[in-house]
Amino acid sequence: MKGIVLAGGTGSRLFPLTKITNKHLLPIYDKPMIYYPIQTLVDAGITDIMVVTGGRNSGDFLRLLANGKEFGLKHIAYTYQEGEGGIAEALGLCEHFADGQPICVVLGDNIMEKSIRSAADDFRAQKRGARILLKEVPDAGRFGVAEMAGERIAGIEEKPLNPKSNCAVTGIYMYDETVFQKISTCKPSHRNELEITDVNNAYIQEGTMSFSFLDGWWTDAGTFDSLIRAANLVQQSRTNNGITGDQQ
Ligand code: G1P
Repeated sequence: MKGIVLAGGTGSRLFPLTKITNKHLLPIYDKPMIYYPIQTLVDAGITDIMVVTGGRNSGDFLRLLANGKEFGLKHIAYTYQEGEGGIAEALGLCEHFADGQPICVVLGDNIMEKSIRSAADDFRAQKRGARILLKEVPDAGRFGVAEMAGERIAGIEEKPLNPKSNCAVTGIYMYDETVFQKISTCKPSHRNELEITDVNNAYIQEGTMSFSFLDGWWTDAGTFDSLIRAANLVQQSRTNNGITGDQQ
């Protein structure tokens, strides 16, 4: 399975922090944000990774990450998203990289405590379709929200005013090679973006969507409150493991 980190966008919800840099280069405790999703993929045994960047600061990713030596990688692939076409559009740019193989996509602002390796192994065994990772949260309306129907997901709503469950769809998505055909049929949403939720609903309608629940804490980091929450959660985890940033 190949890995993809989506790190484009203007980070408008974090303005002016993102006026002169890309959101995914901002610090989360002792590391730039982009380090966390890359480590998530590496910890799941995925070493063939593409980073999708965008905006004026895309060259900084190359300077920061280079060929991924800090992560034990030999090489990182990069591509560039022009404009603000949304998560699904950014993913569509990776078709040549995926080259018919299954992919694990992580949004560049999703930070989590535990490994996703067991979910990745379940998807490897699954052979076709998709797998998403869910997390029960108190503020589901900020996210894509899964409507549960027993052992399956009936549908996903993007940032609903009245969420049908407390199960947020996290920014970790595993897809077979049909994802690119599904993206090509997506229409822009009211915010003029190709929504990843529409792609996931296409798998649900096809009956090939499975899911796992994420272990440990999970947060996005795309707003002021979630950015500081992410830093605090990382710091607490380090402290619980007996390592503080100052000792590293
Ligand atoms: C995106 C997705 C949403 C998902 C979230 C996870 O939202 O559209 O479905 O729950 O990421 O972080 P965004 O925060 O980019 O608006």
